[in-house]
Amino acid sequence: MAYKFSEGWSVNTSAPSDSLEAKVAYIDNGTERLGPERYYAREWMEREWERLWTRTWLIAGVVSDVAEPGDYLTFDVGRESFIVTRTDDDEIKAFYNVCPHRGNWLVHNDFGSLPRFTCSFHSWQFGLDGKLQHITDEDTFRPEVIAHRPCLRAVRCETRAGIIFINMDDDAGPLDEFIGLPPGYLEQYHLDQMHVVRHQISEWAANWKTGVDAFYETYHLHAVHPQTQTVMNDMNVQCDLYPNGFSRMIVPLAAKSGRVSDQEGVDEGLAYMMQEAGMDPNEYHGSAAEVRTTIQKAKRERGKRCGIDYSELVDGQLTDSWATGIFPNVQIGLHAEGAFLMRFLPHPTDPERFYYNTMTLWRPCDDPSYNVPGWMGLPEGTDVSGEARPDIERTAVHEPPNLGEVLDQDSELLPVVQKGVRSKAFEGPLWGEQEQRLRHFHTELDRYLAREK
Ligand code: FES
Ligand SMILES: [Fe+2]
Repeated sequence: MAYKFSEGWSVNTSAPSDSLEAKVAYIDNGTERLGPERYYAREWMEREWERLWTRTWLIAGVVSDVAEPGDYLTFDVGRESFIVTRTDDDEIKAFYNVCPHRGNWLVHNDFGSLPRFTCSFHSWQFGLDGKLQHITDEDTFRPEVIAHRPCLRAVRCETRAGIIFINMDDDAGPLDEFIGLPPGYLEQYHLDQMHVVRHQISEWAANWKTGVDAFYETYHLHAVHPQTQTVMNDMNVQCDLYPNGFSRMIVPLAAKSGRVSDQEGVDEGLAYMMQEAGMDPNEYHGSAAEVRTTIQKAKRERGKRCGIDYSELVDGQLTDSWATGIFPNVQIGLHAEGAFLMRFLPHPTDPERFYYNTMTLWRPCDDPSYNVPGWMGLPEGTDVSGEARPDIERTAVHEPPNLGEVLDQDSELLPVVQKGVRSKAFEGPLWGEQEQRLRHFHTELDRYLAREK
């Protein structure tokens, strides 16, 4: 059947129209060619800081990282740093990570647990609620200097589906109005029952949008990640555009790409996917095309046996990736077993650098026969019990980020793309409809920059 952009591809054509799996109506963002400056110009970076980053909701972390009163985490974006903490009253609050005395960053590490925050410069102390508790040698201050009892500056903070969002704009609308996804979309995956089993931050020599763009489409898979072709149907991907720049693509896994000439053979890739789902591939005698649905059945059975509740997930969700775009800078790869929460964060001063901040979340299960699948890429011996929060692994720019074969391929390519887009010869991207999520994201970004949002 010929491709029609207004219809696109559906992964399950019989999905009920009111279900979260159903294809949603096409949003027409036009065909205009946007200029390339957005990917490298300093004025763009400044405008994004003033009009986007300081005004929109941003994912600061996950609730499981601040599970108990006193737990805190820090979140850095551009030139700012924030502390997110759970107070003694069991509320999650966020503050600028700045001491009101002389400006020192109050917390210098990624996370921990403390009864109060003590500044490392002159030991002023602040409660978990941000209130001033102690000024060292207070009698040496003239009273009017500290009469206002300086406290930590709070920032808006709300949670949804186990995810913590902050917003630097005191006048911003509520988080619920910002989230463009249908009700229940994130909740069905129970991210609130997952915990972080790996966290990596690498610095890449490219603009943060060059990063988002590369992760928002599967069009490049055949060229950059050919090894995925026997287990990912990169062509028949369902792209859905939601309000406020949100989007998703359903990528069928355990299914061959339409680009592979041998559509019949149950080869190594499919055998591996069966094995990771707890099946014995040697006992499989069906066709390659039926592997995906066979795995879905096997996983549902295994879920029942091991006590994992998949009742809210449709069959497709047991194999496929629901790669979900949270405007402006996030993609969450949602899977029945866990999730990959990727944030593309701008460098404080260089428009041609960004931080790829990726957390692997795992939905635990007590049954010893249920293991983390190999495709989640955890190093041998990773503790997935949830008892110890892993440290963040960091790599500097130009260092191999050690993200696994597929993502390392992206990290090698993107700095090269970045060099090309800032050439005089490049006039801006020419997006096809497999790249409709990119246009949708940039269209929303432009609304912020034009102050329409
Ligand atoms: S800067 Fe924090 S106590 Fe002085
Ligand atoms: Fe890629």
